Amino acid sequence: MNILGIESSCDETAAAVYTDDGLQSNIIASQAVHQQYGGVVPELASRAHHKTIWHTVQQALEEGAIPLSDINAVAVTQGPGLMGSLLVGLCFAKGLCLSRNIPLVGVNHMDAHIYANFIDDKPEYPFVSLTVSGGHTQLVHVTAPFEHTLLGQTRDDAAGEAFDKIGKILGLPYPAGPVIDERSEHGDPNFHDFPQAMLDNDFEFSFSGLKTSVKYFLEDQDNEKQFLDEHLDDICASVSHAITEVLVKKLRNAIEYTGVNTIALAGGVSANSMLRRKTNKLAEQTGCELHIPKLAYCTDNAAMIAITGYMMAQRQMFSDMKTKPFANLKALERRKI
Ligand code: KG4
Ligand code: ZN
Repeated sequence: MNILGIESSCDETAAAVYTDDGLQSNIIASQAVHQQYGGVVPELASRAHHKTIWHTVQQALEEGAIPLSDINAVAVTQGPGLMGSLLVGLCFAKGLCLSRNIPLVGVNHMDAHIYANFIDDKPEYPFVSLTVSGGHTQLVHVTAPFEHTLLGQTRDDAAGEAFDKIGKILGLPYPAGPVIDERSEHGDPNFHDFPQAMLDNDFEFSFSGLKTSVKYFLEDQDNEKQFLDEHLDDICASVSHAITEVLVKKLRNAIEYTGVNTIALAGGVSANSMLRRKTNKLAEQTGCELHIPKLAYCTDNAAMIAITGYMMAQRQMFSDMKTKPFANLKALERRKI
């Protein structure tokens, strides 16, 4: 079985081919246009997807050495994400399916982040996934393929969103997550005690207070600019410390509650070095096996959509041509997650 995967939920246009022999290609066209605005501009994202999607798909087919005529199904991100961006990918995928008379697989982007762990690895079920991206922060108990129970999620900002918004306050370029990560390696994580919210709740998160706290902390300094110049790395390290401590504490709660022996990280923030170090330590302490996708499969990519589509196609989980995109996870309440 040969699956073409397409991802267009936010600001990456991506395509990949996954076959019985594994991943054959993984192409990403990132949209630089948003950088000047300090965040993703939805309308510009849709237009950029529209412009690059066919070329990206062609490149994935060429690099995978699989002609379109040998593709058995097209997997595409159905949501969550930006409505306009999702529509471009979904309509394009439907068009390909209609023209080739092959089935469509509508993939949940959050599921795909979790199954990115299966590209190079075979995590054992049941496991708990800490799925941390720019739009979501979730603890998910995965008991079998596509059998998910949501243990808890963020009540406001996602972890990645917190990194990005705090980065903006600190004057860092978008997306700030990787920049804060890099700077944290040279700073003191105990320089300032930023709040770790909702520690009295087992599985839920809240990160919006953290950015306010960073803002007030800077405003309290006599000379904010000079203070930032001198201590940017320390502030980055302290922010990373506050975010990763909460994530790891709640992951520990989830391990204790579910009794799993396997844990997985997923989503863009799982690229974070401090989080990786702390989860490695947690795995050692709890005797759990830890799975983290390769960096290229942590942030948005189509390889994760292609492998999830492959696993869904094996289970006959196809979508019909009336399938609509969904912007948020509420539309998924009919499913388990
Ligand atoms: O999963 P992803 O690529 O897109 C969404 O589905 O949202 O995640 C993007 C998020 C951004 O907020 C970005 O700042 C964050 O992941 N991110 C990081 C790192 N690399 C990406 N955050 C912290 N440390 C990193 N190394
Ligand atoms: Zn994502």
